[in-house]
Amino acid sequence: MLTSNTYTKDFKYFKEKYDESMECMFAAVSDLYAEYWNGFFHFALFKDDHESWESAFLNTHNKYLEALRTSDARNILDLACGRGDFTNVLAENTSGEVLGIDISRSQLSHTHRFKRPNLRFKHYDIMKVDELGEMFDAVMLMDADCYLPDKQLAVEKISKVIKSGARFLLLGWCKQSGLNQIQEELVLYPFMKYWAIPSLETPDNYKKYFEQNNFNIIEITDLNDQVKRNWEFGYESALGGVRTLSRKDLPRLIWKGMKLGSDGIRLIKEQFPAAIYIKVGYDVGFLRYVYFLVEKK
Ligand SMILES: C[S@@+](CC[C@H](N)C(=O)[O-])C[C@H]1O[C@@H](n2cnc3c(N)ncnc32)[C@H](O)[C@@H]1O
Repeated sequence: MLTSNTYTKDFKYFKEKYDESMECMFAAVSDLYAEYWNGFFHFALFKDDHESWESAFLNTHNKYLEALRTSDARNILDLACGRGDFTNVLAENTSGEVLGIDISRSQLSHTHRFKRPNLRFKHYDIMKVDELGEMFDAVMLMDADCYLPDKQLAVEKISKVIKSGARFLLLGWCKQSGLNQIQEELVLYPFMKYWAIPSLETPDNYKKYFEQNNFNIIEITDLNDQVKRNWEFGYESALGGVRTLSRKDLPRLIWKGMKLGSDGIRLIKEQFPAAIYIKVGYDVGFLRYVYFLVEKK
């Protein structure tokens, strides 16, 4: 049985060495997710139980493009762009320039599939985004905030690269406000440990950070109901995986660009209990998927 002390040590490591832990985790799991989930490592919003995945992703992306006013934007930044699939959608839908940054070289190794004159990718850390030396009029951060070591500092740094009047869209993995220690330990810590997540933020705290950094709040919406089918699918995929996977399948999924040793296999194996715990987190309501659209004053 894990004690909270064990967790504390892990979370301290994920916070202090977030760059190293992200590189390792995504080197191990990028192809696994692409095979068992999708090239988009984010949630699709569903209108109902019958909508197809294709339609849900299309409508979700259109909603985000509209919110960010991408057709009029000259410089767009996709923070934590992953394998670049959505960054490519951004570039397809603007005459402006699009930059995708990510801390994982393994994730970025898949961006070579996308070739557009207005599309660039860079190996770069969100926590240093204010040192990029570029300003943007639309910025996106989707399904990656949970990995950041300091959410408040991240919002502060991101605010520095956003032009006045420009928008920032965050799709955040948050925790419900007011949870007690036992609730967090029982439900959230296990999957945070498997996913190298140092901490989860509450929607109220994000709202505070936006206000502290000169943003007007345009919309904050809890999307849990609309993303339900995503974690059900993740859970079913994990069950399907454990039924069919064998140890010999695993090495092929690991990125060969860095030496992970036995950690690679461990990280892949840990995705299965993580998927199961995430569903528990959502079923009990402690995990919230939240849409934050804000505009720089
Ligand atoms: C779940 S994936 C989401 C990727 C992408 N936004 C998408 O929707 O497909 C999370 C991504 O966050 C990236 N990431 C985590 N921490 C980061 C940081 N500090 N700077 C840049 N990227 C980071 C990871 O490398 C990973 O590619």
